[in-house]
Amino acid sequence: MTGKLRRGVAVVGAGVTKFGAYPRQDSRDLFVDAFRELVASVDKGFDPAAVEALYIGNYSSDLFEHQGHLAPILADWVGLTPRAALRVEDACASGGVALRQAVLAVASGLYDVVLVGGVERMTALPTEAVTDTLATAGDVLYEFPAGFTFPGFYAAMATAYAARYGMPYEALMEVARKNHENGSLNDKAQFGMTIREVMDRRIARAEEKGGPVPEWRDEREFLRDPGANPPVAWPLRLFDCSPITDGAAALLVVASKVARRFTDRPLRVLGTGQASDACLYGRTDLTSLRAAREAAAQAYRMAGVTPSQIKLAEVHDCFTIAEVLAIEDLGFFPPGQGWRAAVDGATRRDGRIPVNTSGGLKAKGHPVGASGVAQVVEVWKQLRGEAGPRQVPADVDLALTHNVGGTGQTCVVHIFGRG
Ligand code: COA
Repeated sequence: MTGKLRRGVAVVGAGVTKFGAYPRQDSRDLFVDAFRELVASVDKGFDPAAVEALYIGNYSSDLFEHQGHLAPILADWVGLTPRAALRVEDACASGGVALRQAVLAVASGLYDVVLVGGVERMTALPTEAVTDTLATAGDVLYEFPAGFTFPGFYAAMATAYAARYGMPYEALMEVARKNHENGSLNDKAQFGMTIREVMDRRIARAEEKGGPVPEWRDEREFLRDPGANPPVAWPLRLFDCSPITDGAAALLVVASKVARRFTDRPLRVLGTGQASDACLYGRTDLTSLRAAREAAAQAYRMAGVTPSQIKLAEVHDCFTIAEVLAIEDLGFFPPGQGWRAAVDGATRRDGRIPVNTSGGLKAKGHPVGASGVAQVVEVWKQLRGEAGPRQVPADVDLALTHNVGGTGQTCVVHIFGRG
């Protein structure tokens, strides 16, 4: 059973750092940057002293940065002590779950004004150590000793999906092409380049070095070349993977009754849903995430809307196959049709349902604890018509975010509207 929020909740400010690699900054620096942008985004201005609590999504500052107990440190660095500060950990869904906890606290009447943040600094460790750390979001008793990594988990899902629905693996390249194209229009994206531009840069580098110059005719040929796009965990290749990223994002979440103090154009939180599932080894079906279907059903029910009414979605494309599963689990396309939607362009900015206009985790980057919060920053921009060159042509009045932890042991979905 899922009820309604006891009172209205709105988002009235949003900020995000540029995603990338920051060798000289740690989580607190990144969070301060996102907070500063948030402060500037509040139309009527706001005094941080109004914030009553801080909810931080963070997967593992302990393992990535050797810093536990992050939330009060972040609260201190943005001047919020002695307000309550807590960290929420649900793997890559930490940010989305932090938002949900904040929404529930405001809806309950406990607080009127709360700050939600998400942050992760991953690049201080070498790739092998990052892979190892991320793998602890699987089951360390049964999956980790069998050698499963996150690319490996999603490779298993891609294989199962392709076998069931006849998807050619090259269909996944279309997800990557679209998300890199969107990322090229997002100045906050880690990969602010189309795949064509990545390819042209490689050619230019080869010419400069005076070595053999690759003869790719277009980006599809580039993506088919195992030299340019090597397998990471078959059938997933480099461009099927989200990168390793540092970054932070922040949202100001308030009771609707006080929203107009901050802006005349708030975003209304219409629905929230969250669900859980067994680890991947314990599931009989790898072609769909039950937690995503359940979380989406809760959020749709609460918002009183259907999938066909959603005008834009930011979904958890940690790997290209994850976007295909997401657009089916969310009810935008029937089972087995998600890959066709990617190939047909139905999820492009001018398509039937624009998906990951920010560039998604694939091209914008995936600082895991921040991703669920950053998804909402994109929705904030699109719903307010402030997304610049990547603003979708259709009038976006309803948008959805979908944030997954692990292989789908956690999923959290939010639906937003204007007002
Ligand atoms: N997509 C496209 N290009 C990528 C990339 C990605 N995900 N990751 C790195 N690159 C590019 C780099 O820009 C660099 O290009 P350049 O030589 O033109 O400058 C090149 O590949 C090598 O980068 P490097 O950082 O050395 O790559 P890596 O081999 O250390 O890491 C992956 C590549 C795919 C292994 C790593 O990004 C990864 O583990 N991704 C998955 C992260 C993950 O599991 N997240 C959680 C999901 S649930």
